[in-house]
Amino acid sequence: MAFLDKHKAIETHATLLMVLSLLVVTIGGIVQIVPLFYLENTIENVEGVRPYTPLELAGRDIYIREGCYVCHSQMIRPMRDEVERYGHYSLAAESKYDHPFQWGSKRTGPDLARVGGKYSDAWHVDHLMNPQAVVPESVMPKYDFLMNNVIDAKYIGDEMATHRMVGVPYTDDMMANAAADFAAQADPNSDYAGLQERYSKTNVSNFDGQAELTEMDALVAYLQVLGTMVDFSTFTPDASR
Ligand code: HEC
Repeated sequence: MAFLDKHKAIETHATLLMVLSLLVVTIGGIVQIVPLFYLENTIENVEGVRPYTPLELAGRDIYIREGCYVCHSQMIRPMRDEVERYGHYSLAAESKYDHPFQWGSKRTGPDLARVGGKYSDAWHVDHLMNPQAVVPESVMPKYDFLMNNVIDAKYIGDEMATHRMVGVPYTDDMMANAAADFAAQADPNSDYAGLQERYSKTNVSNFDGQAELTEMDALVAYLQVLGTMVDFSTFTPDASR
């Protein structure tokens, strides 16, 4: 057949084959990549997703510092066994304010994407202090020292400014109140109305049960918000995208 004869010419000339392959790959690449530059947003916006509060953000830093991601993923895949164990599969929007994201690829322990609200604050404190006291066969290390590490809001404003620079929509109001919000979230006796206005559905609690504000407070505040921002009783995926 004439068509196959022509194809033989391509297959028997290494240079011609290379040039034509390159052309095909270039066109394919352009078709995939170019739309990403002019699409305003490649992530579906989902109601409820908000930036982390100052205290949650500090807790997230501790999570990263301690390498929790080495044993825990934060991404529920859309497969039946995952969804039945952990809850609704993770949405891209749920980690759009995570810099860097904590999806992870190793599950020595369970996925934590929806651990928020699953246990009480006291459970988390007991578990982080001594995991084996709660789950005897656990291989998770102890993080009891977090109880003694007192923290303050000295650098939280700078950190929020950095996150703002990479696109997290911290408002001027949030920036101005960073230090106050940081302390208010861990103190149920404080005036936290402003905090809850700035950040919807914020848990205010003396997370670690101690008078001092510690790294334990921050870490538990972070764990308790994971996966709780989107209300899945009202969420419907946007089929138009
Ligand atoms: C060496 C691996 C390892 C590291 C590091 C680790 N964990 Fe774990 N984690 C586990 C294992 C295994 C379990 C399951 C047994 C248990 O509950 O202790 C677990 C369970 C948990 C649970 C309970 C989850 C659930 O749904 O029951 C939480 C919360 C948790 N880890 C948080 C953390 C945090 C926060 C850090 C970092 C400060 C951390 N883990 C570091 C291995 C690890």
